[in-house]
Amino acid sequence: MSIHGTYSVVSYGEMVRSGPRVRAYAEALRAAITPGCTVLDIGAGFGFFAILACQFGAGRVIAVEPAEAITLGPDLARANGCADRITFVHGLSDDLGEESRADVIIADLRGVFPLFKRHIPTIADARARLLKPGGTLITQRDTLRCALVSDVKLAGMAFDPWDANAFDLDFSAGRRISVNTRRKTTASPEALISDPQDLAEVDYRTVTDPNVSGSASLVATRSAPAHGVLAWFDAELAGGQGFSNAPDQPTLVYEQMFFPFERPVEIAAGDRVDFDLDLRLMGEDYTSIWRTRIARTGAPELRFSQSSALAEFTTPADLRRRSGSHVPQSTARLELDRYCLSRFDGMTSQATIAREAMDRAPGRFATEAEALGYVAALAARYHDPGH
Ligand SMILES: C[S@@+](CC[C@H](N)C(=O)[O-])C[C@H]1O[C@@H](n2cnc3c(N)ncnc32)[C@H](O)[C@@H]1O
Repeated sequence: MSIHGTYSVVSYGEMVRSGPRVRAYAEALRAAITPGCTVLDIGAGFGFFAILACQFGAGRVIAVEPAEAITLGPDLARANGCADRITFVHGLSDDLGEESRADVIIADLRGVFPLFKRHIPTIADARARLLKPGGTLITQRDTLRCALVSDVKLAGMAFDPWDANAFDLDFSAGRRISVNTRRKTTASPEALISDPQDLAEVDYRTVTDPNVSGSASLVATRSAPAHGVLAWFDAELAGGQGFSNAPDQPTLVYEQMFFPFERPVEIAAGDRVDFDLDLRLMGEDYTSIWRTRIARTGAPELRFSQSSALAEFTTPADLRRRSGSHVPQSTARLELDRYCLSRFDGMTSQATIAREAMDRAPGRFATEAEALGYVAALAARYHDPGH
């Protein structure tokens, strides 16, 4: 993740007004805190849980967050009478040392799914290095759940533009991208055409492998065109608290995830659909692979094999460039970056480096301000939050 994080202050505001999620986290935190204990809030946003932890009696709180929103934290802590107890760290938990070890760790690093960016490696690292023996991880376990879904809105998104359009244009070549793209959505409980089943589990108290896979056998409860599989999670927190982003629960920030089939399939009540999902962390995010086997009465079995990797515009040359045997070549831009990086020596101003960059790459920048922007952006990538 970039040091700047991903969300704005407004997004964090949306997150903390998400009723059942926030209530469950707050109650779990209240139950876990013992007077004077140390709490680590990972992914603190502007410090909402950190401030709550102080109200519940924590003696010391470390709130760590790479997004700029954390700079609002000290003002909010002052307004709530706890500025002296919270240390705000503008950065990543990966860089915290043992002075940040805590009795309680609170974090919600999920996206639509718990399998989101470096959530699992971050929690596994924090659990191993930053949780005191006998301490409490507030987020304990997520169970991924799924059901067959029939929903014209989802079908409209996944299939319609590519199968048919009002102008009779042939867009079928875009279909591969569309049906291999999973989507964040909100579906109603009426759109489910099977009972929900468990798909996989992530236990944060023990997990080390960021890759997760699972299977579910879904039996249609009524006849309908099936458009894909809808998935969500049930979260278990410390202190017996929990919440879910299931379609029959109040809508939460996460919403749900839709995995389309390759095409709509007419399903009869009693037909069975076996669904396998593989989520693999590739670099900074997950690739999803989903395989479906549909056994229908009176019709041939159908098999679909889909993957978010098939939705990428990856050419054979791209794949070669990512392989271990590829020998990267230098470029003019790389040389300029290399030079600027060599000048980040703790003594030279960005303005000086920008002028030098203009001399080394004549014509590259129209103005000194543009060169300064370039140098400043490069420096920001390596910004040390302690300075
Ligand atoms: C979903 S937001 C949660 C915000 C807030 N704690 C809440 O629950 O409402 C997750 C946050 O975690 C941050 N984050 C992700 N990885 C992190 C890490 N390794 N260390 C610190 N923060 C991290 C992201 O920048 C993001 O702001």
